[in-house]
Amino acid sequence: MKVVIWAVFLGVLVSGCYSVLDESPHISERSLRKTANFPIGTSLRFLPFIVDQRLKALHEHHFDSYTAGNDMKMHRVMPFDNEFNFQTVDAIVAYTQQNDQRLFGHNLIWHSSTPKWVVEKARKDPQWLANFMREYIHAYVGRYKGLVHGWDVVNEGINTHGGGYRTDSIWYEILGEKYIEQAFHYAHEADPDAVLFYNDFNTERDMAKFDFMLSMVKDLQARGVPISGIGFQMHIRMDIPDEVIAETLQKAADTGLQIHLSEVDVIFNTHNDSKGGGVENFTVLTPEMRAAQREKYKNLVRMYREIVPKKQQYGITFWGFNDRDTWIKKFFAMIDWPTLYDEDLQAKPALLGVLEGLD
Ligand code: XIL
Repeated sequence: MKVVIWAVFLGVLVSGCYSVLDESPHISERSLRKTANFPIGTSLRFLPFIVDQRLKALHEHHFDSYTAGNDMKMHRVMPFDNEFNFQTVDAIVAYTQQNDQRLFGHNLIWHSSTPKWVVEKARKDPQWLANFMREYIHAYVGRYKGLVHGWDVVNEGINTHGGGYRTDSIWYEILGEKYIEQAFHYAHEADPDAVLFYNDFNTERDMAKFDFMLSMVKDLQARGVPISGIGFQMHIRMDIPDEVIAETLQKAADTGLQIHLSEVDVIFNTHNDSKGGGVENFTVLTPEMRAAQREKYKNLVRMYREIVPKKQQYGITFWGFNDRDTWIKKFFAMIDWPTLYDEDLQAKPALLGVLEGLD
């Protein structure tokens, strides 16, 4: 017995020492969350984030909103036929509650994270999919009612390029465009206070896609569908003109809806929006490029603050905050430096750019 108590005591002591030893050096950069007057978020992978002291310290210093990079998607929450697995989401909820952070739900319906078993079952039994969607959303949103502040209800429901509904989606294929409004209704039924978003990419640069999204959103609003916001993913590139971004932000804000910059990063190289597709024009990050990226981040944040009325500013969420863990390199299989901290978790000029934009 004594041995066990001692072992436990030692364990606590050692882990205490480790956490002191591991403690990251003082973070001298100004805090984003303290500088901003709207929520500032980042996406994270709960594991390994939760055991990485430096990441945790930086996260707590800068961010008051948490988005799961993948952990809350359908393929994670229901990997097998009709079996919810809420373990990680429960842990994320506990973590964010403990740290007084807003938890944003990404996402409910997305073609790309729809598990294979759902696709196969839906093709065999088209009737089944409509019921499944209702039950999935009711159970998931209902379980976290009051705990998840807002949701990306439908993600990327529009074609990659230009206008038109995305056709390479089982939801559209079986249920038609109606699935979009149904998803919003179900989410609202499960949590009437949750802030509900339509979220998509390239809508800040592809005007045909943006126009299609805007008319879809206005039509949903006009028919009383409970949509409360538009998410601009904002995986922008250095060469996307600020004027075009400003125009789309303005028109989106004119709807009166919440506007979320939901997945911000600023990329140098050119990818083609599909996995592994891209051209590596840049292989080295020069001081000039770092300075230009600072400017781009500053302008983006300024535009958001100047164009989007205060009460519609749902916040800015970065899609990861360091170049070591960024999804861009893995997903597009190319080198890049799209975020605020470098590979060694040291602040880049980009961070200063965001702070300047917030000033
Ligand atoms: C990405 C994740 O970051 C990657 O880890 C994963 O392999 C693919 O998905 N748009 C979205 C996000 O809405 O969910 C995507 O996240 C990035 C593009």
